[in-house]
Amino acid sequence: MKFGHFDDQKREYVITNPRTPWPWINYLGNEDFFSLISNTGGGYSFYKDAKFRRITRYRYNNVPMDSGGKYFYIKDGDSIWSPGWKPCKTELDKYECRHGMNYTNIKGEKNGVTANVLYFVPLKTWAEVQKLTLSNNSKETKKLKIFSFLEWCLWNAASDMENFQRNFSTGEVEIQGSVIYHKTEYKERRDHYAYYSVNVPVQGYDTDRESFFGLYNGFDEPQVVSEGKAHNTEAHGWSPIASHYIEVELKPGESKDFVFVLGYVENKEDEKWESKNIINKKKAKDTIAKFDTAAKVDAAFAELRKYWDNLLSIYTVDSGDDKLDRMVNIWNQYQCMITFCFSRSTSFFESGIGRGMGFRDSNQDLIGFVHQIPERARERIIDIASTQFPDGGCYHQYQPLNKRGNNDIGGGFNDDPLWLILGTVSYLKETGDFAILNEMVPFDNDMSVARSLFDHLTVSFDHVANNLGPHGLPLIGRADWNDCLNLNCFSNDPNESFQTTENKTEGTKAESLMIAGLFVVYGRDYADLCKRLCKNDEAARAQKLVSAMEVAIKKHGWDGEWFIRAYDYYGRKIGSNENEEAKIFIESNGWCTMAGIGKEEGLCTKALDAVKERLDCKYGIVLNNPAFTKYYIEYGEISSYPPGYKENAGVFCHNNPWIMIGETVVGNGERAWDYYRKICPSYLEDISDLHKTEPYVYSQMVAGKDAFKPGEAKNSWLTGTASWNFYAISQYILGIRPDYDGLLIDPCIPGSWKGFKATRKFRGDTYHIEVVNPHGKSKGVSEVEVDGKHQKSNIIPVFGDGKEHRVKIVIG
Ligand code: BGC
Repeated sequence: MKFGHFDDQKREYVITNPRTPWPWINYLGNEDFFSLISNTGGGYSFYKDAKFRRITRYRYNNVPMDSGGKYFYIKDGDSIWSPGWKPCKTELDKYECRHGMNYTNIKGEKNGVTANVLYFVPLKTWAEVQKLTLSNNSKETKKLKIFSFLEWCLWNAASDMENFQRNFSTGEVEIQGSVIYHKTEYKERRDHYAYYSVNVPVQGYDTDRESFFGLYNGFDEPQVVSEGKAHNTEAHGWSPIASHYIEVELKPGESKDFVFVLGYVENKEDEKWESKNIINKKKAKDTIAKFDTAAKVDAAFAELRKYWDNLLSIYTVDSGDDKLDRMVNIWNQYQCMITFCFSRSTSFFESGIGRGMGFRDSNQDLIGFVHQIPERARERIIDIASTQFPDGGCYHQYQPLNKRGNNDIGGGFNDDPLWLILGTVSYLKETGDFAILNEMVPFDNDMSVARSLFDHLTVSFDHVANNLGPHGLPLIGRADWNDCLNLNCFSNDPNESFQTTENKTEGTKAESLMIAGLFVVYGRDYADLCKRLCKNDEAARAQKLVSAMEVAIKKHGWDGEWFIRAYDYYGRKIGSNENEEAKIFIESNGWCTMAGIGKEEGLCTKALDAVKERLDCKYGIVLNNPAFTKYYIEYGEISSYPPGYKENAGVFCHNNPWIMIGETVVGNGERAWDYYRKICPSYLEDISDLHKTEPYVYSQMVAGKDAFKPGEAKNSWLTGTASWNFYAISQYILGIRPDYDGLLIDPCIPGSWKGFKATRKFRGDTYHIEVVNPHGKSKGVSEVEVDGKHQKSNIIPVFGDGKEHRVKIVIG
């Protein structure tokens, strides 16, 4: 069952039934000021950091689901309704929500009145603009009463939810004309306030929540709206809100626009006040003035559209398959921008107070984003590397506001450092900007111990080389990419977290085959980079360590049919045929085949066949099989999940592309494509009722074959799935891959494909690429033509002339 449809021309998903199986959301803003918005107007806003600068309040996991947001109530006689259906839930005559690139347009119609709300954050603006257009399509004059609504958050979203003995006394507002200012804590240590304005005179307002709703009412029946009159309240403590009350008369056929601005301001210490206790409103007024007419809003909106036209013109494909094209050209790249902005911090599954910017996560996010805005990728690489320690280890995450690492969700994950090599090398291949390697980057944010970014890569590489276990394989530390494989934890106390509790360090033998494969892939990248920089001794040293790892993997990591997953604390195998449960895992088989380990001897094909046989299912490749059915204290959190969910045999979509890429290494284009399609959201649109989450973005996990409800997805938006799938499809299946010396073209597609066309902008030039497949092959390039001339290599050179170039590739 579907709940809407794609509009590819406009790059929108159009939801036509508000009762989606889960709130289907979108993100507004892509730099400093952000909002999350659901298809019924639920969600919240924040500045930079969803924990420390939460501007409006939102209650997670509430009943009913998705309660609270930026709402409009329309009173038309006795009928009270909202354009997004919620919160009133009055049945609408028509409803439509269009989620687009950083904007959402919600339209409701009732009794001949249409209310259309366009929500977006204009470029370079610390505010969300809402343009409400009311139209009277009926034959009579309508006298409407409009109430806006939002609830302020007292800034720190964590303490806002727990410290009520203080919070209920601190709230402060100021009201001037049609602007409501939220200034809680401004007179002490904060240099910021927020405001909510409308560009017409108001007939009233409310800022005290209980007066607005009535003490025992919900969002669906505010007392003020039922009464049809604002109470003009000024909040003192408790829970401040902002609501404007506007009376509107519309003649038949008439439309009126109203522009609301929800903004954020920072003032310097000596510019905070206008007079005693009266805040300096200059910056707020300047922003409000920029958007005080519908025409100004439309112009800002057109700029946002243009910005996305440009970003999405860098990589486009024309494959003849709408579902594929819309993912590659629109939604997957869009999701990559969102994961770049938020890492794993804030979605409808991530509360914004739990996690920040992950070291491994944000590095991986770069591979789907770096081509879009390389300058921002550059800054991110430096920010991430700045949280590293001198020995190459690192904080597992940092907070976006202060960019400082912290241990809030644990530390000592031994895969972390290697991802910095991936992030940096991807940036170098995209841009050719080797100067970044000379940037001086602090350790643990301490500039007095800064070293070059290149040195950070060296310590990243060495952190693995210096932490090998008894088989010469990498020690896992707290866990590797799989956070839940806690081999040194041994937790029997339900009150402690698997991620932060003290681990056993003495005598541990727990080693990771996944880190081993990762080390071979990125160790080779590191060695290559050294060669390119003419650091030949260092290249040789690195290559030697990588080769030794390959030997160790073949010797101690091969189980006969596939690669084992790890050795546990006692030195026993995990992910081996010897095990009773979880005999095989996806991660080590993905990384060891991506590394091509034992390819000549057939190990890669064998391992991939075992994955196909044991892990593949209708909804994708599950993480392990058979699923754990009991708790293994020596394995940790992984065995705590019920079978088929999350890291215990769920289809963990993040790691499926590793197998897709592995399949391209051995040239199996059919399988790579089959795996791609199985988890790709646009192909799942028809089963939205089962899948539950948005059909336009990837989710972290789809319940696997052992689950109670296979095919049901959870945790949409913020997942490494976005960047890895874009990387797999764009660089390995379609095979258009940035390299140091040019654009490498090496597709691996199903033999039945006749070919495809793509456009790639790369280092200032534009390449129009046509791939043809006359012989029904999957892989191999038999002919290359560039601007009408044959060339031997399938690396298309960088011309550097800023011009358009035609490339023709024959597969065979
Ligand atoms: C985390 C990743 C981790 C993955 C697998 C995700 O929730 O953000 O860092 O690699 O889970 O455990």
